[in-house]
Amino acid sequence: MTAKFEYAQMKDGNTEDLITESEVPDGWNEIVIGSYSQIGSHYKEASEAEPGNLACNLAVDDLVAELIRKRGFSEILEIGTGDGNRLLNIRQNVGRSLHMQGTELDDALIAAAQRNSVEAIKHDMRQPLPHPEGTLDLILYLNNAFSFVMDRNNGKQMRVEALKSAYKALKPKGMLVLDLLSQDNEHYDRSGRVSHFERILLIDDKPQTGPLPFWSKKFRLREVGQLLAAAGLSNCKISIKYMVRRDYNGNTTDTSRSGTIVHQPEKFEGPEVEALLAHIAERYRAGTDYRMIVTVEKPK
Ligand SMILES: C[S@@+](CC[C@H](N)C(=O)[O-])C[C@H]1O[C@@H](n2cnc3c(N)ncnc32)[C@H](O)[C@@H]1O
Repeated sequence: MTAKFEYAQMKDGNTEDLITESEVPDGWNEIVIGSYSQIGSHYKEASEAEPGNLACNLAVDDLVAELIRKRGFSEILEIGTGDGNRLLNIRQNVGRSLHMQGTELDDALIAAAQRNSVEAIKHDMRQPLPHPEGTLDLILYLNNAFSFVMDRNNGKQMRVEALKSAYKALKPKGMLVLDLLSQDNEHYDRSGRVSHFERILLIDDKPQTGPLPFWSKKFRLREVGQLLAAAGLSNCKISIKYMVRRDYNGNTTDTSRSGTIVHQPEKFEGPEVEALLAHIAERYRAGTDYRMIVTVEKPK
């Protein structure tokens, strides 16, 4: 049996329609949760059928496992864990026992995570984390899950609050990893920031669903810098890496970790940031779809 996604055609014959956050409809998150719920336990397999996406996920899991091993982390939280497959892979990769927990809003996916022996709690990522202050070593938002901290009226403030809440829950020297979809190689005057697309789930090439709507916010380096600064995280050590997910033809993947370390950013401005953006622009052509991996280390 094979599971994969087909992308419906949106406006202008493209498979995504780029809109602004203020154009996202009311109730978008309930619709997205309903879409994930219908894809349910086929999510992992169908995402793995996209080679660029799979390669990036595996490379990010390696990076996270490396962090856990190097730092001796043991209390790990993944926000928007889906069926928990990423935590499973990370645990296998680390090869020792870890206390891992995921948050998720969809009941079918919580049940799927539990079948995968991943503890998942029901929690809406747009709300403060229920975890006590200073108790977690590592907080993960993988595969652009942070994009669901979105709101047509109040998105920026919501993201700032989510970052503050994560920072508070971290132990000193704990880390936050944001694995985001980036827009840094697109022209700055392009207004689209949220990708709206529709996927159909195919099993053995037969459609199992009608078009399922999704909205997913994309990020730029400067915007991330502004969010981190507004959340009061300017005293943290920040590292940025980029990876290609999909090129023009939809198939080349470069998971080599490009990028640089940006220490204690004030809105990510200055020559180091300019040099990184120039490097990205040169290396990845406009239209390439790629990930920006941001790691934030809480001071001692
Ligand atoms: C892109 S998937 C990523 C799943 C998993 N992290 C992975 O990489 O395979 C995002 C997940 O976030 C969940 N999600 C969406 N909105 C949410 C919300 N407001 N609160 C908690 N989880 C949410 C979805 O149900 C979905 O499982």
